[in-house]
Amino acid sequence: MLWLLLLILPCLGASVPGTPGPERPGIVGGCPVAARSFPWQVSLRFYSMRQHRWQHQCGGSLVHPRWVLTAAHCLEPQELGACAFRVQAGGLRLYAPGEELSRVVQIIRHPEYNSSLGAAGGADIALLRLEADVPRGRGVPVSLPAAALSIPARKICWVTGWGDLGYHRPLPPPYHLREVAVPVVGNGECDQRYRNSSRHRPAIRDDMLCAGDKDQNSCQGDSGGPLVCRWNCTWVQVGVVSWGRCCGLQNFPGVYTRVASYVPWIRSYVPWFSGP
Ligand SMILES: *[C@@H]1O[C@H](CO)[C@@H](O)[C@H](O)[C@H]1NC(C)=O
Ligand SMILES: *[C@@H]1O[C@H](CO)[C@@H](O)[C@H](O)[C@H]1NC(C)=O
Ligand SMILES: *[C@@H]1O[C@H](CO)[C@@H](O)[C@H](O)[C@H]1NC(C)=O
Repeated sequence: MLWLLLLILPCLGASVPGTPGPERPGIVGGCPVAARSFPWQVSLRFYSMRQHRWQHQCGGSLVHPRWVLTAAHCLEPQELGACAFRVQAGGLRLYAPGEELSRVVQIIRHPEYNSSLGAAGGADIALLRLEADVPRGRGVPVSLPAAALSIPARKICWVTGWGDLGYHRPLPPPYHLREVAVPVVGNGECDQRYRNSSRHRPAIRDDMLCAGDKDQNSCQGDSGGPLVCRWNCTWVQVGVVSWGRCCGLQNFPGVYTRVASYVPWIRSYVPWFSGP
C-alpha cells in the first residue's frame, strides 16, 4: 500500500551513518495494555483477498460513539469508498474469535491533505462515520483538546497500536495491543533533527507534533492511532500517528498530526459527546 511505502521509503534513503535499522520499531519498547486502559482505540480494516480477512491497516480512535479519527494517508488511494473499510472497536487483540466489525458509511478526508505529498505534506487527518454507535461496552470516546492547547516539550504522553515492533518486525500473534510512553519534542528541535540528517529534509509544520525517543516510538501499522496525554485526570488526544523515519532512531521522533489544530474542523462534523 502507498502509505506503507511512504513510511518505508525514507528508510531506504537514510543518510545517517550507522543507523541500527532493526532497532527502530512501531510500538517500540512498550508494554501490553491492561484491559480497558485505552477504550477509544480502534483497528481500521481493509479486506485482504490474499488473507481472506479484514486485515489490520491502521489505528484510529473513537471521538464519539459513531465517529472515528484517523490519518488521511490510511485511506489511500483516494478513490476508495467507505465500503472498503471496517472498524473494530473494543478488542485488545486483532482477529480474536467472534470480533465484531462496524461498517463505515462516510469518509471525510481533510481537504488540505495532498496525497501526492503524503503524510509529510500535512493535514494528515480524516474522520470515519460508522453505521451505528459503538456500544459503551466496546468503546469509550476520548476527549479532544481545546483548540488553543499548547503541549509542553518533554511532557510524557502515550501512544498505542498494533503496529510493527521494529523495522520489518511485525507484531506477532496473538496481536495484543501495545502502549508506550513517549516524551513530546518541541517542533523547532524536531525540525532541526530532521533537517540536520537527510537530503529529504521534510519540514515539521505547525500542524504537526513530535514525540518519541530512541526505543520508544510508533511504527508501521500504528498510523492513524492516538497519542494521548493526561491533564487533570483526563486523557486528551493530542496527536494522530502520521509519519517518521524508520521507527525509533534516536534523532527522529515520531511525527503526529496535531489534533488541536483541527478541532474546529472535527467539531464541524462530530457532535459533542459528554458521556453515556
Ligand atoms: C499537491 O502537491 C503537488 C506536489 O507538490 C502539487 O504539484 C499539487 O499542486 C498539490 N495539489 C494540491 C491540490 O494542492
Ligand atoms: C545538527 O547537526 C550539528 C552538526 O552535526 C550538531 O552539532 C547539532 O547538535 C545537530 N542538531 C540537532 C538538533 O540534532
Ligand atoms: C487543568 O486544570 C487547571 C485548573 O483548573 C486549568 O487551569 C488547566 O487549563 C487545565 N488543563 C487542561 C489541559 O485542561
